[in-house]
Amino acid sequence: MLDTLAGGCSSPVRSGWSIGEKPFVQSRGAGAYAFDEGGERYIDYIMGYGPLFFGYANSALTAGLDELAARGVLFGSTHAEEGRLARRIRAHIPSMERVRFTTTGSEAMMSAIRVARAFTGRSLIVRFAGNYHGHFDAALFSAGASAQTTQPGRTGIPEGVMQDVKVARYNDVESVDRAIRGREDELAAIVVEPVCANMGLVPAGKDFLKGLRGRADDTGALLIFDEIIMWPRAGMGGAQTAYGIRPHITAIGKVLGGGFPIAAFGGREDVMAVLAPDGPVFTGGTHAGNPFSVAIAHRVLDLLEGHPEYFAQTRELAEHLAAGIRASFARRNLLYNVVHLESIVDFMFHDREKYSAYYRAMRERRILLPPSQNEVMFISTAHTLTDIDETLAAIDESLGEVGNRALDAT
Ligand SMILES: Cc1ncc(COP(=O)(O)O)c(C=O)c1O
Repeated sequence: MLDTLAGGCSSPVRSGWSIGEKPFVQSRGAGAYAFDEGGERYIDYIMGYGPLFFGYANSALTAGLDELAARGVLFGSTHAEEGRLARRIRAHIPSMERVRFTTTGSEAMMSAIRVARAFTGRSLIVRFAGNYHGHFDAALFSAGASAQTTQPGRTGIPEGVMQDVKVARYNDVESVDRAIRGREDELAAIVVEPVCANMGLVPAGKDFLKGLRGRADDTGALLIFDEIIMWPRAGMGGAQTAYGIRPHITAIGKVLGGGFPIAAFGGREDVMAVLAPDGPVFTGGTHAGNPFSVAIAHRVLDLLEGHPEYFAQTRELAEHLAAGIRASFARRNLLYNVVHLESIVDFMFHDREKYSAYYRAMRERRILLPPSQNEVMFISTAHTLTDIDETLAAIDESLGEVGNRALDAT
């Protein structure tokens, strides 16, 4: 059935290829649950790779979609609700003084980098190994998530593009200095996930982000925060507010559409003024800012603003999950580090085979994990304590089962 799809999928991580697994073929989703083609129910921690903060098919997002669609899902014109959405976003993330909407996070980040290059009149960017910003050329080399792009040339990314992309080490400001040494005057932007959730979950040290802002200021470059996963999971002001570091440009996406495709980038007014028609830089899109996705994004903001308790609720479940996993590890004298931040939980085995065996054992127990160790577990407002306890029992059993074969803490 899937053989006409290139690679059997529309995005490689779903294929399970990175852990040698068969793809999970999903028929539907409801609340915290995914269902396979046979109708079996799984507790889902992929949650669409982040957007489904309110679970699948939350009625506050899906009620009255027919009426919404009946007004037109796409205009070829600007509309007032886009402007209102931009203002609502700016009220939460003040550094996004001017906002432009895109359809995907990749476009938002690609555009943010172009804006920074145009504003500074420079080409060089620094990014960090293991961070993921989307599937455009400059973002992919040594990226995290499921991207496998360590060999430019063979991957369709021109070597020329890479001459203006340096990859530094996350949480290591000196590695930025080394990466740009001798080319400080060429640096257009430092691009970073302020909390990285694409090589597992790795929060930035506060000094790291402060150091990056300092390096940007010293060199005349811009600091770009990719908050596509972290907003609003790190809080309504994003990780930048939590850390107290103001970037020049920010990209958000994922939860903004609650599962519908919409993303945005925005930044300082004078920086964003390089965008056409005010300035010479072109970014755009047939579907950018379409009224249907914008209306859903308003509903997302209504939910977030109307239910501040969702943050504590999902945080407490994440804490419970993380504590339970730690206890399972402790019982087996395993030394894996369990990390959690707000509604995200993560740990990493030391090799892919162990994760693969664990993934399979969990799937047999009807728990759906991302089929790649670089991805994290997302908790939604639809998950319950019962779901988490069921998951913890499955984790304990799976660790026991896998331990007999493959698991050892090295
Ligand atoms: C931090 C981050 N930035 C950018 C992207 C790209 O977003 P999209 O898949 O919507 O193009 C992702 C997607 O996983 C992401 O995690």
